[in-house]
Amino acid sequence: MTEVLVEVEDLKVYFPVRDGWSTKDDRQVKAVDGISLALRHAEVLAVVGESGCGKTTLGRTVAGLASPTSGRVWFRGKDLATLSSGERKTYRRQVQMVFQDPYDSMNPRKTAFQMIAQPLTINRIVPKTDLVNEVLRLFDNVGLAPGEAYLNRSRHQLSGGERQRLSIARSMSVNPSVIVADEPVSALDISIQGQILSLMRKLQEESSIAYLFISHDLAVVRSLADRVMIVYLGQIVEEGTTDGVFSNPRHPYTMALLAAHPIPDPELSRNRHRIVLTGDVPSPIDPPTGCRFHTRCPIARPVCSQQIPPFKDFRNGHRSACHFADQLQSMARLLNESGPASH
Ligand SMILES: Nc1ncnc2c1ncn2[C@@H]1O[C@H](COP(=O)(O)OP(=O)(O)O)[C@@H](O)[C@H]1O
Ligand SMILES: [Mg+2]
Repeated sequence: MTEVLVEVEDLKVYFPVRDGWSTKDDRQVKAVDGISLALRHAEVLAVVGESGCGKTTLGRTVAGLASPTSGRVWFRGKDLATLSSGERKTYRRQVQMVFQDPYDSMNPRKTAFQMIAQPLTINRIVPKTDLVNEVLRLFDNVGLAPGEAYLNRSRHQLSGGERQRLSIARSMSVNPSVIVADEPVSALDISIQGQILSLMRKLQEESSIAYLFISHDLAVVRSLADRVMIVYLGQIVEEGTTDGVFSNPRHPYTMALLAAHPIPDPELSRNRHRIVLTGDVPSPIDPPTGCRFHTRCPIARPVCSQQIPPFKDFRNGHRSACHFADQLQSMARLLNESGPASH
């Protein structure tokens, strides 16, 4: 077994509800509500779910940018809550974050050279005399070529794709072991998305970096991830190897996501019956009882609103939190045969 780099146990991240000027409101937004995961060396673990399901909050917490309300996060076996300030620095360097649109995280007054030179200098990665060469090497590595042409550009002189390349170069400059990538291509044109994904795949293979790859795009996840975690309202509903989850989904939410974004692959559509997703994600302030998905699940039964479904284990670490995980295909087939949903 390869080394576990990041381990998260029963993580909860709640935010206070800010409703206008009222300070009386003591309700909480349960953005992440009991997630556990292990990310291993050189592994790509995807986090998938609709908007508002807590993916960004999970990623930020793993990257040390948000604090757990409860639960624990370990890095290389050390509890983050107990790190010394030196160890915390190392952690923040080892676990980098790439955002959806890096524009906001770039200082408008800095040139591309300065943006990369800064982490190299602060972390004493190369001597001053080698700084320009190292920046040019990093530019070349992310496809900003010829590098000299980019040195003096500021963020508004770069295209969306070039900005994402620069932001990836900045992350790579400190030799991280983990990159948390939060929807890294969803703000880009389709034609550019593929280029950035190939770049991320290349870097991952060359440098054996582990990715926590957050995305709502199943085709992207399918092409990049070793394992997948499907999240709904701050909780994992299904997880497993990418092949296992995509070829044999064991949760109606996963089936609905797959049906909404069909992936052109005959292997995958063989035994899939459609579950159509309706309505919006309910509020994470007061999530539904029992199975949180029951309010949108076309095959829900009375037990679903009454009891929290425990995880059922299948092969290769494939798990699903659905009361009917064993019978999904036949239930969905019945649903399809009875025509359009009548509820
Ligand atoms: N800093 C914050 N303060 C209050 N609520 C927040 C904060 N960050 C996120 N949330 C809320 O937490 C929930 C999950 O958000 P987020 O983690 O951004 O989900 P996702 O990335 O899956 O869209 C949402 O309801 C969002 O409004
Ligand atoms: Mg998000």
